[in-house]
Amino acid sequence: MTQRQQIVITRAGGPDVLKIKEDRLAAPEANEVQVTVAAAGINFADILARQGLYQDAPPLPCTVGYEVAGTVTQLGAAVPGEWLGRRVFGLTRFGGYASHVNVPLAQIFEMPESMDFQQAAAIPVNYLTAWQLLCVMGNLKASETLLIQNAGGGVGLALIDIGKQLGARLLGTASAGKHAFLHERGLDQAIDYTRGDWLAEVMHLTDGRGVELVTDPLGGDSWRKSLRALRHTGRLGMFGVSEASANGVAGKLKLLKTALKMPFIHPVSLMNENRGTFGVNMGHLWHEVDKIREWMDALLAGWQDGWVRPHVDRAFSFSEAGEAHAWIEARRNIGKVLLVP
Ligand SMILES: NC(=O)c1ccc[n+]([C@@H]2O[C@H](COP(=O)([O-])OP(=O)(O)OC[C@H]3O[C@@H](n4cnc5c(N)ncnc54)[C@H](OP(=O)(O)O)[C@@H]3O)[C@@H](O)[C@H]2O)c1
Repeated sequence: MTQRQQIVITRAGGPDVLKIKEDRLAAPEANEVQVTVAAAGINFADILARQGLYQDAPPLPCTVGYEVAGTVTQLGAAVPGEWLGRRVFGLTRFGGYASHVNVPLAQIFEMPESMDFQQAAAIPVNYLTAWQLLCVMGNLKASETLLIQNAGGGVGLALIDIGKQLGARLLGTASAGKHAFLHERGLDQAIDYTRGDWLAEVMHLTDGRGVELVTDPLGGDSWRKSLRALRHTGRLGMFGVSEASANGVAGKLKLLKTALKMPFIHPVSLMNENRGTFGVNMGHLWHEVDKIREWMDALLAGWQDGWVRPHVDRAFSFSEAGEAHAWIEARRNIGKVLLVP
């Protein structure tokens, strides 16, 4: 048994419901390793879980967290001895907001020597999601234009890295204060979605034709509009409902509004308009770890080549977990926000 600290969502509510609790972690199961966590990633789904709006979250009270980086300090009986002491990162099916966590070896990756723990913790969810959106399902080509909704977030920056590597033209929406940084990272045109009509601007920038691929994590009305931004042969990848985010009753109402505003997509219209739609949910791929490992191999090659560039916006201590959530909810982050035990 290992004494550990965890950040617990004690009940649905604002950032103040996050509390540090001490407990004892059992030894890892046969095919698991125990990781002493150096950095844990925060994802937007964790915010929705805390707000009581994330259907996949464990029942409350619970500890969320989909990814960690750290050192292997205990091995399950079936794990080869050479794993002990390795610097690793990987996907946790919740429980990542902790000083120690047991993780199936299949979800663990060895860190390259040149990578630090914070960079490693910023990779799994953001880059695997972006890879699935662009390379697996979106099939983005160098001759095509991609519109990245929410380009300044963790997934947004990963989409820029991969989209740029593929050679596509990159448009992205983000609040205006993030534009200069996004241009530096390789976004060709940044659009301030808070002013004016972003769809009109996309049409203007593409001579009225629209784009070949939109990645949209906002949900509801945004998905409707993103569909209209597609050029013929275009695809829309839907992968989140950030629009629903709010605390208390407002959150429940926004979730309902987001659901009601989702587009009805008719197969015959898709056929006649030569358009496609698809969904991505990394949290529903635990039975397809082989695919995920293949995608991570490609991303680690991208790290070695220098085009996978995880950007850590801020790292907060465990006692500042509430501030970390509030930082993201106030839209102040550019890229990844981490927790450090
Ligand atoms: N399906 C999957 O497998 C999967 C995996 C990872 C992430 N996601 C989804 O992708 C989205 C981005 O995730 P992330 O972890 O990278 O987070 P993130 O983008 O870093 O989230 C924060 C940013 O979202 C934007 N935002 C848009 N609507 C918002 C709202 N109502 N409240 C607060 N911020 C809002 C803000 O940027 P601006 O300043 O530009 O407004 C903010 O800075 C989320 O919807 C998440 O659930 C899905």
